[in-house]
Amino acid sequence: MVRYANVYDIPRINELGSLLNDNFRMVNNINEMLEDKYSKVLVYEEDDMVVGFITATDLKETCDILSLVVDPKYRNKMVATNLLDYLISELDENLKLITLEVASKNIAAIKLYEKFGFEVVNVRKNYYKDDDAYLMARESE
Ligand SMILES: CC(C)(COP(=O)(O)OP(=O)(O)OC[C@H]1O[C@@H](n2cnc3c(N)ncnc32)[C@H](O)[C@@H]1OP(=O)(O)O)[C@@H](O)C(=O)NCCC(=O)NCCS
Repeated sequence: MVRYANVYDIPRINELGSLLNDNFRMVNNINEMLEDKYSKVLVYEEDDMVVGFITATDLKETCDILSLVVDPKYRNKMVATNLLDYLISELDENLKLITLEVASKNIAAIKLYEKFGFEVVNVRKNYYKDDDAYLMARESE
């Protein structure tokens, strides 16, 4: 089940976020995001536990997906698909563009985003410590 996150979810979101980035807690202040009207933080709950989350900056006509992580034990069970579906359903009717950055070696995530109609629109060389970043975008019909 997907729902909006609350303050009680923060430790678990940070724990999952550290799988993506050692500095997740430092660069993503979930507490502030929960208070910020331009931020969206959604979690997927199963077995009474948060097993995945997605964060985004929603500026109505554009939305930038910042992070998406699923607990390794719950991968390949459509958790990320459900989080993305829910996020997109919550976006404004005037939405024109969704963007995100992903490491070029992150095949699982790239396949997921391609399934949702995202395309690589730019490459940011050496954006990560040992990888390039793909800027991916999906325009609204
Ligand atoms: C990428 C990630 C979020 C996918 O989560 P998930 O819940 O396992 O994804 P889903 O089960 O919803 O998979 C949906 C689609 O994604 C793609 N996909 C997911 N895992 C994949 C893998 N290991 N290899 C190739 N494609 C994969 C497939 O297209 C899949 O559709 P299919 O099952 O019809 O082939 C998850 O692997 C993860 O948390 N990775 C670490 C964090 C990360 O890299 N986040 C993204 C960058 S911000």
